[in-house]
Amino acid sequence: MLKSGLLRLSESPTAKRIITRAPLSRSFAQRFVAGDTLREALDAARALNEAGLSVSLDFLGESVATRDEAEEAARMAIEILEAITREGLNANLSIKPTQLGLDIDEAFCRANIERVLSRAAELGSAPGEIFVRLDMESSAYTERTVALVEGLWADGFTNVGTVLQSMLRRTPEDVARLTALGSRIRLVKGAYQEPDTVAFPDKADTDRVYVESMKTLLEAGTYPALATHDEQIIDAARRFTWERGISKDSFEFQMLYGVRRDLQTRLQEEGYNVRVYVPFGDSWYPYLMRRLAERPANVVFMAGSVMRE
Ligand code: FDA
Repeated sequence: MLKSGLLRLSESPTAKRIITRAPLSRSFAQRFVAGDTLREALDAARALNEAGLSVSLDFLGESVATRDEAEEAARMAIEILEAITREGLNANLSIKPTQLGLDIDEAFCRANIERVLSRAAELGSAPGEIFVRLDMESSAYTERTVALVEGLWADGFTNVGTVLQSMLRRTPEDVARLTALGSRIRLVKGAYQEPDTVAFPDKADTDRVYVESMKTLLEAGTYPALATHDEQIIDAARRFTWERGISKDSFEFQMLYGVRRDLQTRLQEEGYNVRVYVPFGDSWYPYLMRRLAERPANVVFMAGSVMRE
C-alpha cells in the first residue's frame, strides 16, 4: 500500500513541489544522490574507485518533453564520458531513453543515443569502449527499449546494453532475446508501479524469476550485472557461480549509491567486481521517491523533515 502510494507520488507534480521545497528532504536526498554537479559526481566516483569499486554515472532526468531538453541531456552524457576519460576513472554511463527523447519521437531519441555511443566508442581505450547502459523505465517502454538495443547492435553499436526487471512477466523472453544478441544485461527487480497484467503481484515470484534469470545469464557468459541489495539472492549467486566454476571476473554485482555500503565493501573484499550506480543532478525527486518506495522505513524520517518546514 505505502509502496504503491509512494510510486504514485513520484509522478505527482503537486507532491514534487511540496517535497522538493523542504530543505531537509533535499538533505535526505543527498544520501542517495552524489550532488548537483558533475564535479561532485566525479569526486564521488574517484572516492569509490579508490575503495576498489567501479561506478556507473547517471545524470538524473527522465520523461523530458522538449527536443531542447533531450539534446541537452545527450550533450551532458557526452560531457560525462569525456570527463571519465580525462580523469581516468573506472566508470561507465547510465542513461534513460525518455531523458533522450523517447516520449517525443523514437527516431530522434535513437539519434541522440547514437551520438552518445559514437563518442563513447571514440573515447574507449583497451580493453574496449566505455559501456553505456540504457536504464529500464516503466513497462510502457520495455519493448521499445529492448528493440532499441537490438537495432543499435544491428548497426554496430555493441557498446550498449540495457536492464531487465524480474517483476515483469515478459522478462524470461527478454533474457533469451538479449542473450542471443550477446549484449550485457543488468538484472534488477523493478522499481515502477505496474499492473498485474504485466507484472507479478507477489514479490516471491519476482524473486524466483530473478534467481532463474540470474542463473541463465551467468551461464550465458555475457558479463551480466546482478543489481540487487538482496542478500539471499547475492548468496545464491555466490553459491551458483562457485558450484559451476564460473569465474568472479565474468559478472559484476551492482548497488545504488548510499545503499548497503557495508555489503558493497564486503563483496569487493571477497574479490567480486562491484559497481556503484552514482546519480547526480537536481532532478532527484522521482529517483528519491522510488528509493523510498523500496524501503518505506525511510518515509518516517522523510515525512518528519517535510512537516518541520
Ligand atoms: P529488495 O527491494 O527486496 O531489497 C532487499 C534489501 O535491500 C531490503 O531488505 C533493504 O534492506 C535493502 N534495500 C533495498 N532498497 C533500498 C533502499 N532504497 N534504501 C535502503 N535499503 C534498501 N530499477 C528499474 O526499474 N530500472 C533500472 O534501470 C534500475 N537500475 C538499477 C541499477 C542498480 C545498480 C540497482 C542496484 C538497482 C536498480 N534498479 C532499477 C532498482 C531495482 O529495480 C530495485 O527497485 C532496487 O534495487 C531494490 O530492490 P533489491 O533488489 O535491492 O531488493
